[in-house]
Amino acid sequence: MRRDAGRPVPRTIGRSAPLGGTAEVPGDKSISHRALILGALAVGETRISGLLEGDDVRDTARAMAAFGARVERLGAGEWRVTGVGVGGFAEPADVIDCGNSGTGVRLVMGAMATTPITATFTGDASLRSRPMGRVTEPLALFGARAFGREGGRLPMTVVGAAEPVPVRYTLPVASAQVKSAVLLAGLAAPGETVVIEPVPTRDHTERMLAGFGADLAIEESAEGRVIRLAGQPELVGQRIAVPRDPSSAAFPVAAALMIPGSEIVVPGVGINPTRAGFFETLGEMGADIRFGKLREEGGEPVADIHVRHTGALRGIEVPPERAPAMIDEYPILAALAAFAEGPTVMRGIGELRVKETDRIDAMARGLEAVGVPVKEGEDFLVVHGRSPEGVRGGATIASRLDHRIAMSFACLAMAAAEPVTIDDVRPVATSFPGFFELMAGLASGVAGSAEEAG
Ligand code: S3P
Repeated sequence: MRRDAGRPVPRTIGRSAPLGGTAEVPGDKSISHRALILGALAVGETRISGLLEGDDVRDTARAMAAFGARVERLGAGEWRVTGVGVGGFAEPADVIDCGNSGTGVRLVMGAMATTPITATFTGDASLRSRPMGRVTEPLALFGARAFGREGGRLPMTVVGAAEPVPVRYTLPVASAQVKSAVLLAGLAAPGETVVIEPVPTRDHTERMLAGFGADLAIEESAEGRVIRLAGQPELVGQRIAVPRDPSSAAFPVAAALMIPGSEIVVPGVGINPTRAGFFETLGEMGADIRFGKLREEGGEPVADIHVRHTGALRGIEVPPERAPAMIDEYPILAALAAFAEGPTVMRGIGELRVKETDRIDAMARGLEAVGVPVKEGEDFLVVHGRSPEGVRGGATIASRLDHRIAMSFACLAMAAAEPVTIDDVRPVATSFPGFFELMAGLASGVAGSAEEAG
């Protein structure tokens, strides 16, 4: 049954003891989706370890099976995908339900758009409210057609191009999902597909395509980052070790910075520069945060993150050009900023309005409810930090089918004066199964592991 059906699961969270120990957060969501999709488009076997087993990624795994790949779970986080090869997708027998996942639906649409098959996509109430035109417009240039609801919303049927042509496309929005949908569509088109991104976004798709043997060239130009992909490559199955998700690591890291006396380590976190903007921002706010044991795993930079509470952080102005590198971390930054000294100014974040929910509005209303003054506009949010008085709490927060809104207020609750209730915590399972168990483990000073708990 879908998460938006059935009864909400509320949870009340009170003040926490200092956090200590090791926080083993789950695998990277972006990389997990891509590993399954590229595994399905490759020839032979792809073995994935550390796959995020959240609802979003499981929905993508089911989608890949519906398009004809063999997808098997061998153990915790261990998966095997036997691919059908580029252009080898079969027509699904039923509607593809991508649940809550914008990344899942947009990347899968791209992956099937240049194969002569038809597929119908849907999702939960959150996903059905999100714009798909941003991917179906470039996919139409390849020759694919899409028929959806008003405003380019799901449910939507995509008819793949029988004779796809390659595309040259400049991204009108800074979106790794759109970039990835175009690159995945370019795989089954003949000739060279070119994507130009004026503002760089997460580059997991490019890294992984190269790892699977695609012919990809990237150069910086006056127009931005130019990515050239040679069509119809033979992708070869790979072994992929998925790093832990920096966007999930952000929650225990931020909670440790809210709760005096905390000191934790988050091992094996992906710190790809296109994703690490939040940690840079924390440094500028005066946080004691260090990267240890820097290494590379599966084509991605990884480190152990050490963080220690040493006092209140300073509010800062986050450089707007950093937004793509921390786009998913603004909700938890807004929660953390509530405990800082002075205002934290977040500009250039209009994209937050089309995430799982309107995240600017969700954070602004929630913060006001717990006694934190804010100011918002179409593409900005200012949070007036409450240090030294602290955050009051004592309210019920609507999570609005958005995992990051639920977890941001759960962290805030652990440091607020009065308990906070989240009206429905079920969305947390989309990206961070075991989140509450992990946080409880850190609060009791023992190592927290989402995998063991989840
Ligand atoms: C993602 C890209 C981002 C991000 C999302 C994951 C991806 O979305 O918010 O959580 O894996 O490509 P946009 O492409 O809409 O910026």
